[in-house]
Order: sequence, then C-alpha cells, then structure tokens
Amino acid sequence: MLERSQLAANALQALHDEDYDVPFNTQSLNHDGLIFMGGRQQTSMNGDWTFCVDLLDTGLRQKWYAMLPEAPENRTEPWDYDPYMGETVPVPSNWAMLKEKWYFFEGSAWYTRPLDLDEIDGTKRQFLRFGAASYDCKVFLNGEFLGNHYGASTPFCVELTGRLKPGRNWIMACVNNTRTRDRVPMRNTDWFNYGGLYREVSFFETPKSLIRDFFLYLVPDGTYSTLRAEVTVDGPELETARLAIPGLGVALDIPVDETGRGKLEFSARPDLWSPETPTLYDVTVRFGEDLVTDRVGFRQIERRGTDILLNGEALFLRGISVHEDDARLGKVTTEEDLRRRFADARDLGCNYLRLAHYPHHERAAQLADELGFLLWEEIPVYWAIDFANPATYRDAENQLTELIRRDRNRASVIIWSVGNENPDTDARLTFMQGLAETCKNLDPTRLTSAACLVNHAQNRIEDRLADHIDIIGLNEYYGWYEENFEDLAAIGVNSNPDRPVVISETGADGVIGEKGPQKGLFSEEYMAEVYRKQIGTLRQLDYVKGMSPWILYDFRVERRQNIFQNGYNHKGLIAADKQTRKKAFRILSDFYHQIAASEEKAREAS
Ligand code: GCU
Repeated sequence: MLERSQLAANALQALHDEDYDVPFNTQSLNHDGLIFMGGRQQTSMNGDWTFCVDLLDTGLRQKWYAMLPEAPENRTEPWDYDPYMGETVPVPSNWAMLKEKWYFFEGSAWYTRPLDLDEIDGTKRQFLRFGAASYDCKVFLNGEFLGNHYGASTPFCVELTGRLKPGRNWIMACVNNTRTRDRVPMRNTDWFNYGGLYREVSFFETPKSLIRDFFLYLVPDGTYSTLRAEVTVDGPELETARLAIPGLGVALDIPVDETGRGKLEFSARPDLWSPETPTLYDVTVRFGEDLVTDRVGFRQIERRGTDILLNGEALFLRGISVHEDDARLGKVTTEEDLRRRFADARDLGCNYLRLAHYPHHERAAQLADELGFLLWEEIPVYWAIDFANPATYRDAENQLTELIRRDRNRASVIIWSVGNENPDTDARLTFMQGLAETCKNLDPTRLTSAACLVNHAQNRIEDRLADHIDIIGLNEYYGWYEENFEDLAAIGVNSNPDRPVVISETGADGVIGEKGPQKGLFSEEYMAEVYRKQIGTLRQLDYVKGMSPWILYDFRVERRQNIFQNGYNHKGLIAADKQTRKKAFRILSDFYHQIAASEEKAREAS
C-alpha cells in the first residue's frame, strides 16, 4: 500500500509516463493457472462492487490500487477516485447495460470489494476464480498487482495463498475492453463489445496438494469399451490419485509421475451418450485431501469421408447459431436464459447448436449434456486478426486452451472451431493450422472446424485450411449478401469436398411486424423466402451434413444503425424479445422435423 505522501509524487510522475501500463501486462493468469472446479466448494463474490470508469487509465498512472482505505477526513491529498467508497455495480454485469452514459464506453473500469476472513487456514491454498472478464483483467490484492488475463470469454484463477491477512482484504480488478489490433477478436466485430466482470467471481480453498486438471473420455477406437483418465496434480509428491465411477463399478488408482501427471486406460462398457439418450455418470477423483467430482457422458464422434458419425451412426446436424446476447442483460447468462435457448432450439427441431463466436458460459455445455444437444464451440479468431503477430497467436492459443480445458469433459461438445470468415492468406493458414493442431494435442476425441468462406473467384468450396480441419464450416449468404442465388447451386456442382461440410451460417435480416417493411429487404417475407430457397438448394448437396443458420435471436451490435436495424442484427428466427417468432422459424422447423422423422424411420428399419 502507498504511503500518503507518495500519492502526489505518483500523480506528477504519471503525467509524463506513457509506458505506465507495461508492467501490468504479464498475462500471468493464463491457462496454466487454471484449477479444475468440478464440485468444489466456492464462496460467491457476486454482488455489489465499488465501480468507476477510467478512460485515461488514471488509476494505473496514479496507482489507485495502492491507496490505503483511509477515512476521507484523514486524507491530506485529493483522490481522483475513491476505490473504497462511492458508486457500486452488481457483479456479474456489463456496464453498457447499467447506465446510458456507459453504453458505448470502451476503456478501463475499476471494480473493488472487500474479502473478509476471520482467519487464514495455513493448511489450505486460497484462490479467486473469474468466470470471464471482458477483455483484459488486471487483479490486485491489498495494493499488490497479482497479474492479468487476456481474453473476454474464458475462466481464470488467481492464487492468493500467502498474501491474505486475517480480517479485511481488498480485491481490485481493472477491466479493459478496448479493441486493439493485437487482440482476439481485433477491432471489428458484428457483435456488441460488452465490457466488464460479466460472469461469476468466487473465492475457494484447496488442500496443499490439489487436482489441477482432469480429463475422462471414451477412447475413440470404435470398440466403445475403453475409458481413459488423465489427471494433473500439484503439490507435495503423492503416488496416486483415486478414480471412482460407481455407475460402472470402477474404483481405480491412477499412478502419478514426478511431473504431477497421471493417466490410466481401463475397460468399461458405459451406456453411450447421445442427444436421444443423454446418459451421464457421476465421477469422483481423490488426490490426498483433495476431491473433485464431475458428471460425464461417454460417446464417440468421428468423420468418415463426408459423413459425421456419432457412436458409429451417420447423422445430420440440425442446428442453429446463438450469441450470448440479451436485450436486458447484455452478455450476462442466466439459467433461465439458457433453458429458454435450449427450449426454443428443441421446438425448432435442433439436435445441435453453434455457440458463436466465443466460448459461452460453462453452464451451456453442462445443460447440453443433460438435455441432449450437440455443440460447436469456438474462439473469436474472427475476420481480420493480426495473424503475423506472435503475441496475438499466444492470446488465441491461450483462449483455445482455456476453453478446451474447461469443457473437454462435456459429451455435448463435438467440435472445436478455430476461426470465422478469415482471409485465406499464408499468415492466416499458419496461425490457424497451429490452433487446429493444439486442439488435437489437448483433445484427440473431438472434430475440428472453422467457418470458412466460399472461393468466389472459382465459385466453389475451397480454402487451404480445409486440409487441416475435420469439418469444413461454410458461411454463405446467397439470397442476402450474395445476390446471385443461382451461384449456390453452381457451387454445389463445382465442389467436391473430401470431408463433411456444415453450413455454419446462412440467413437474412427480417424485421418483425410493423417495424419492418412488408416486402423487400428487411421484410419478414423476404427472410422467409431466403430460407425456402436455401433449404431447397442445400438439401440437394449430399456432402452437407449439417446447418446452423444465423441466428436464433436478434442481437445487439454497434455497427448496424440503419432505419430497420437500429443497432441490432435482425437475422434472428426470433426477435430480441426472445418471444416473437418470425415466419422463417416454421420453415426451418418443418425441414428439421422432416429430417428427424426420416432418420428415425431409418433407425427403425435397421
Ligand atoms: C457473418 C459473421 C456474423 C455476422 C453475420 C451477419 O457471417 O460471421 O458474425 O453477424 O455474417 O452479417 O449477420
């Protein structure tokens, strides 16, 4: 903490130092600090935090984080901001949704709250966990900078062990959502740049020896008879971890080597997970005093030629794309919002969702496991990215690693996607090939993809990245952006992909009711007609093995300000009220229910 006299010195020095932020960009809170959270006891840190926007980073320049919580009457110098008193905001929240004056705010904002501890248990380790913070989150404890995390949508942990004191401790987070050239995504996106601590924050303790990571899966060898457990532990050496899956009569020791890693393959014949039969098994892992739990489904996803197979059976991914966006909550996810999302997808006839364009809340994949949906999850390597910048690659790979480590025990997740609509350049190919390899290194059980673009010059599906991913995602908007609809059929004929194609996006804007025109662009009728024509053409292409049209709900975006869009993208099959369905909903729903019925008939016949 700063002595009072230093404050003035700081303020003066800060006027001339434009490198003030360099010491606060360690990115030391990345994936290697992650702790496996299965079933851990957590103390919620949600609720009111003192809050202040800080457009010019005065807080970092003047070191607000180091000021003593001095009573105002005892201060001898003026404070430009008082971290300990004043305006509060609820965590989780996006500041854009809280006050009109913060709607378009992009910059740093300070969150402060106390952490009161009667005593510090010296036999334990103490951590904070942030579900996500958009985008750069610098964490301070009692005036000490502990590190920062890059990436707007993945969890991170901060170890506090040895730094806490009995009684009142102060936590500060400086969250900055500025768009910059080196970030992932870069500066230009078609979704709203919500900033803030918008997922849960919690405090938790572990024994000195803890389970840092745990991965359990069905070995994808087509026999459905071998499971593999991988565990990473941390702390004083112990010989083994103990795995139990009561539903399978499994209770086994996993030997742990000197690096803290353990792996074990063993025979088991679990009931297979699928959307129709979403069977989950309770799992526990013990290591010394530490105990974690999870609920895991076992299934195999693979591709053979242009087929996608789940548990050996070819299937069509009847999907829809979704953003994390809510007219009232911004990017904050609630249980109710998630359950409505899956209920609407079920009505639509979906067995699959594309969680675009960034890692969604971890609860989404947990619910998809329980309800029986397949998921495409992705990192926001979106449009223009600084592909030649090693720091950008490090950021992208970290976000991907955090996503995979968070969700790789989720049976519902079948595809990791490494990008969306990126220009086919050499730098981009190297960058995304590296990410695709990272997926396989971290998780040999899932398929990889990316939302690629049509090669318009050749009028066919062609992207050099296709050789390095399992499924070719394809974003095409014939009938909307690409006006010559006949080209879509031509592309179908001109293309001969050797692996499955999933139409990762297609669609059109349709403004509901009297707010939109009754015919022509932006009318509901025009949108419905695009869906009719798209479905009529795509159903002819036998290498198209799935679709996730753009998008389930209308969503907020800064860049669309014409008289029909008013700061929203209106390609939703349902309006932003998440109630009013548009004509195109029924058109897609009829198509999906037909596919489901024919697949059911084929299953009965076999
Ligand atoms: C692109 C992009 C989406 C965007 C959509 C649109 O394909 O991937 O993020 O919202 O098109 O223009 O509506």
